[in-house]
Amino acid sequence: MILFTGLTGAVGTEIIKLLPEYGIPARGLVRNLDRAEAIRQAGVEVVGGDLEDRDVVNAALRGCDRAFLLMANSRQQLELEKGFVDAAVKAGIGHIVKMSANGADSNSTALLKRYHGEAEQYIRESGLRYTLIRPNFFMQNMLHMAGSIVEEDKFYMPMRDGQVGIIDVRDVARFILDVLTKPGHEDKTYEITGPELVSFHDIADQLSEVMGREIRYVDQPAAEFKQSLLQWVPDDWYVETVSELFELIAQGSGALLNDEYIRVTGRAPTTLRQFFRDYSSFFEKS
Ligand SMILES: NC(=O)c1ccc[n+]([C@@H]2O[C@H](COP(=O)([O-])OP(=O)(O)OC[C@H]3O[C@@H](n4cnc5c(N)ncnc54)[C@H](OP(=O)(O)O)[C@@H]3O)[C@@H](O)[C@H]2O)c1
Repeated sequence: MILFTGLTGAVGTEIIKLLPEYGIPARGLVRNLDRAEAIRQAGVEVVGGDLEDRDVVNAALRGCDRAFLLMANSRQQLELEKGFVDAAVKAGIGHIVKMSANGADSNSTALLKRYHGEAEQYIRESGLRYTLIRPNFFMQNMLHMAGSIVEEDKFYMPMRDGQVGIIDVRDVARFILDVLTKPGHEDKTYEITGPELVSFHDIADQLSEVMGREIRYVDQPAAEFKQSLLQWVPDDWYVETVSELFELIAQGSGALLNDEYIRVTGRAPTTLRQFFRDYSSFFEKS
């Protein structure tokens, strides 16, 4: 039995879609019970509750031999991930797979990269067999830009000429399931990327081509970006941590390309053009 966290999120939603293909007994620790029925329908046993609740985590891990740990970016992220690892040790979990992020590093200038770096280190020192998955920038992040793309044919980000090895979340989900269910991935750390290195100007060009109209990337000064993000998400902590991540990308931290995805899954990663074709309805003018 494999315990999954985060099944209601971006990555988890794609894991749910793939699970029937893998035919593995799965359990989900689900906080938002409005989504529980859809998860059950995918054949997943649901344990309701919050990762903050140690009893719930212990109960969810009971009888499992493997676990997938994904935690949303939040102030509590590191503390909750460490708590989950402690509980996994106590439960005798044989293999833990953690969702990390590219550039995870306990000395990073970005808090969320430090959180991932420290959680990774905690897992390495826990005695558990582990796999750490560090994906590059998600293609699906571009869906958050759909509003201004539809209204103005522009999107505003502070990435300067920074490039990313942008990856489709659907591929991230497949990679996670392969690593959890196939042998040979214990005690490994994988930086995974999509098939091409692109700047945000390149992203705009590819989106323009797919949508058949000109869409421009506007390089926004970091201070302006923060102000506009604050209007959408009035949470200083969130805006600050996202800005730190984007500043790292502007400095080139996302410019990484490798063939780990194809090596592990035997499949070609989704191209950005294909992603835009599949999600074109998000960017269509009404
Ligand atoms: N975006 C990127 O480009 C990128 C790239 C590399 C790595 N990452 C990493 O990917 C992770 C985020 O993945 P995602 O985009 O799939 O996340 P997401 O869409 O934000 O979903 C987060 C999931 O965590 C659950 N959750 C949050 N707090 C919880 C709690 N206290 N107890 C139980 N469940 C809780 C949420 O449940 P609810 O539905 O109840 O809220 C949801 O299922 C982060 O660690 C991030 O650093 C992101």
